[in-house]
Amino acid sequence: MRVLVTGGAGFLGSHLCDRLLRDGHEVVCLDNLFTGQKCNIAHLLGHPQFEFVRHDIIDPFKFEVDWIFNLACPASPPHYQYNPIKTTKTSVMGAINCLGLAKRVKARVLQASTSEVYGDPNVHPQPESYWGNVNPIGRRSCYDEGKRCAETLFFDYHRENKVDIRVVRIFNTYGPRMHPNDGRVVSNFIVQALQGRDLTIFGDGRQTRSFCYVDDLIEGIVRSMAQTRTVGPINLGNPGEFTMLELAQLTLQLVGGKSKIVHQPLPADDPRQRQPDISLAREILQWEPAVPLAEGLERTITYFRGRI
Ligand SMILES: NC(=O)c1ccc[n+]([C@@H]2O[C@H](COP(=O)([O-])OP(=O)(O)OC[C@H]3O[C@@H](n4cnc5c(N)ncnc54)[C@H](O)[C@@H]3O)[C@@H](O)[C@H]2O)c1
Repeated sequence: MRVLVTGGAGFLGSHLCDRLLRDGHEVVCLDNLFTGQKCNIAHLLGHPQFEFVRHDIIDPFKFEVDWIFNLACPASPPHYQYNPIKTTKTSVMGAINCLGLAKRVKARVLQASTSEVYGDPNVHPQPESYWGNVNPIGRRSCYDEGKRCAETLFFDYHRENKVDIRVVRIFNTYGPRMHPNDGRVVSNFIVQALQGRDLTIFGDGRQTRSFCYVDDLIEGIVRSMAQTRTVGPINLGNPGEFTMLELAQLTLQLVGGKSKIVHQPLPADDPRQRQPDISLAREILQWEPAVPLAEGLERTITYFRGRI
C-alpha cells in the first residue's frame, strides 16, 4: 500500500515510518520539521520506498495514497504553547486537509488524538466513553481543544461523507528519538541525569502518569488502522501508573551519578492523575503493552547517551 504519514519526522512518526517500510509499504512522510528532526529519518532517505516532503499541513496537499496517518502536531507543552494559534490551526486545518484528501482518494485515515482530550479527569482510569474535563481558555487549551475539534471533524466526515476513519487516543509515550529539549518528563529526567544536573519535579511529585514504550504504541496504532471492527476512539497507552517521584528515582538508579531531586511549582491545568482504560484495545486489537518501564527507560537512556 501507499501510506502518508503526516508528522513523519517526529518522535512517533519516524518509528511509524520504520514499521510501515518493514511491513513492505511505500511511505510518504510529510513534515514541516517544526519539532521533527531530519536525523530521525536520515537512515530512510535512500530507501526506494520512502519519500520525504517538507510541507505545512495547514496548506492543502494531494497524494495518491491508501492510508493516511495524521500525526502532525507539536506534542510537548513548551512546543505547542510556543505559538498556540498555530497549534490550533495545525490540529484543525490539518485534520480538514487530511479528511478532504481521504474523501477524494477514498483512503482510510487515522487521527493521532490524545489523552489530553480527557483534560484533568474526574473519572479514573479513563474509558473512551468519558467526555473529559477540559479548560477551554487555558494555556494548554490550544492543544487539548484543537485535538477535540479534530476528533469532531473526523466523526462528522465519517457520518456525512462516509470517510473511513480511525481515531486513537494516545497516552504518554516515550522512547528513542524524543526531542532532548521537548520538556516532556521522561526526556527531561534522562537528559538532566545524564548531564549531572538535578532532576526537576513540578509540585510534590505525587501526581501520577502512565508511560508507554514507543514500540508498543506503534504496534497498537498499526493494529487500530488495520482492523475493521471499530472506527474508535480507542485508548492506547500503558495502564501501569507511576508517580513523578517514582519515575525520577528509577531514572537516577538507571543512569547513576550524583543528581538530586528538586521541586518547582506545578504548571496551570496539570492533571493529577492520568491512566488509560485499555479494555477496548485488549478486546478489539488483542493488544496491550509488553515493555516494562525499567526496560524501556534503559533503551531510551542508551539513545540519549549517544546524543548528549
Ligand atoms: N508522544 C506522546 O506521548 C503523544 C501522546 C498523545 C498524542 N500524541 C500525538 O502523536 C503525534 C506525534 O507526537 P510526537 O510525540 O511524535 O511529537 P513530535 O513533536 O515529535 O512530532 C510531531 C511532528 O509533527 C510535525 N509538525 C508539527 N506541526 C506541523 C505542521 N503544521 N505541518 C507539518 N508537520 C508538522 C513536527 O515537525 C513533528 O515532526 C502528535 O499528533 C501528538 O499530538 C503523542
